[in-house]
Amino acid sequence: MAVAVRESTPNPGPSTTAARDADERERRTRAYGESLLRALRRQERRGGSDWLYNRMIGLATQDEATKVELFRFVDALPALKTPEAVSQHLRQYLLRPDISLPPGAKGLLAFLERTAPTRRLLAAASHTGARMMARRFIAGADAREATGAVTGLRRRNLGFTLDLLGEAVTSEAEALAYQKRYLDLIRDLSDIAAKWPENPRTDQAPFGPLPKVNVSVKLSSLYARFDPMAADATVQAVKERLRPILSLARERGVFVNVDMEQHDFKGATHRIFREILCEEAYRDWPDVGIVVQAYLRDAEDDLLSLLGWTKGRGTPVWVRLVKGAYWDYETIVAAQRGHPVPVFSRKAETDANYERLTELLIENWQTLRPAIATHNVRSAARARAVAEEHGLPPRTVEYQVLFGMGEPIGRALAAEGERVRVYVPFGELLPGMAYLVRRLLENTSNDSFIRSAASAGKAEELLADPTAAALAPVPCPGTALTPGDSRRKGRGAGGEGRIP
Ligand code: FAD
Ligand code: 2OP
Repeated sequence: MAVAVRESTPNPGPSTTAARDADERERRTRAYGESLLRALRRQERRGGSDWLYNRMIGLATQDEATKVELFRFVDALPALKTPEAVSQHLRQYLLRPDISLPPGAKGLLAFLERTAPTRRLLAAASHTGARMMARRFIAGADAREATGAVTGLRRRNLGFTLDLLGEAVTSEAEALAYQKRYLDLIRDLSDIAAKWPENPRTDQAPFGPLPKVNVSVKLSSLYARFDPMAADATVQAVKERLRPILSLARERGVFVNVDMEQHDFKGATHRIFREILCEEAYRDWPDVGIVVQAYLRDAEDDLLSLLGWTKGRGTPVWVRLVKGAYWDYETIVAAQRGHPVPVFSRKAETDANYERLTELLIENWQTLRPAIATHNVRSAARARAVAEEHGLPPRTVEYQVLFGMGEPIGRALAAEGERVRVYVPFGELLPGMAYLVRRLLENTSNDSFIRSAASAGKAEELLADPTAAALAPVPCPGTALTPGDSRRKGRGAGGEGRIP
């Protein structure tokens, strides 16, 4: 009987098999996505609320011009040393006819900025407000506070990577201070971690043990003249600063991940990473990683080139796959310079590319260890479906989320048995401002998954396959963003998380 059925059924051709695989992958993606969404909704119903943060986000999302000016003010605030300076910036950014604030707010601000004592009150309230906002996304002002945060995460079966806030330093003294603070962090935290009990949920992957301590570094914090136009000098100088960090980390069993910054810095960042990790001292060291940004049109080339390089090196490295945090900046700066825009212009293109790269990464997991860093349920669910399709043991793929933003999806993934790491930034407010503004931009962007999910988006839309939308025809020429247009559309906030 079985033979008769087989004979009467034509062999499916390769294209039929591929289509069936794609359907099955999509079915699993939806199923995982729905389960993650249900877990998120349950957490939302239980969760408390952060009054100040919600007010700020509400204000920023009601009108795009207000958002840009509000974030400009927040960005400038830590550097404003006198009540007069605070009050002057408030007037310049927020007390303007085109800026809409809640009823009564403009009158109150105008009253407060009139006399010296009320200006002091206004400045104190502004600084306290900014610190409270920052506390949502920044785990602490120093290593002691950050250590408290990461021990709490471990207790909840979540791993961590610690990031000392700072980027694009402007003096060599500052760069050397960063290097020293990373060395201190690695030394002190590895001593503390030696006493931590083993937690298999965070310290073990199917392919072996993982370092308990994990740090992330932005290379532009290590050298004041980080300049892609002077690539050789930049690469040599940064390698010199990075070597002591890598050597100490290796000696202490600490993982080091190199963050990816704006597109201008990408070439030098890859070069530094690859040259230094081919040196004798580090060539057989697997506890290192780099970031690939799926919003870049050339991200697939980057990943393929990393794959070739890693095979030549002979020891795996980790790849944290992100969409990219500098979209506004890249779009505006390319338009200002008259250069081709390095990032996709439509969100669906980035999402679809993220899914393609997820697959490439997972197919090559033995060479490039996959770390899927996203707060988007569809993107994470896709990674789970692809990992299952490729028969990877559970917890081979790592999921990563940002402190203060991604814990709900992180907890949901961990509850489903996945391995999750939280990116935990710490440090002072001034060097952390660019980071804070990037998070505020993400949380208020019309395109962001977090915002759509927060506004109770429908599962069907949140989990939709981005490929069809990515392939849809591009709008007519002449509607391209210019810096002015982009501001009106709410994309004016930029810089490296700064507002031009
Ligand atoms: P989604 O809401 O699905 O995607 C938002 C992203 O889509 C935007 O950030 C942008 O990249 C892209 N996008 C938005 N609008 C458009 C558009 N019109 N056209 C095309 N693309 C668009 N980012 C870095 O750059 N470097 C890092 O080193 C880095 N490290 C990270 C580490 C962790 C653990 C995490 C979770 C994120 C990290 N990020 C980093 C941030 C990341 O790039 C994203 O900004 C952020 O996670 C939002 O993406 P999402 O998938 O969570 O959300
Ligand atoms: C950023 O600094 C998380 O590296 C990412 O925005």
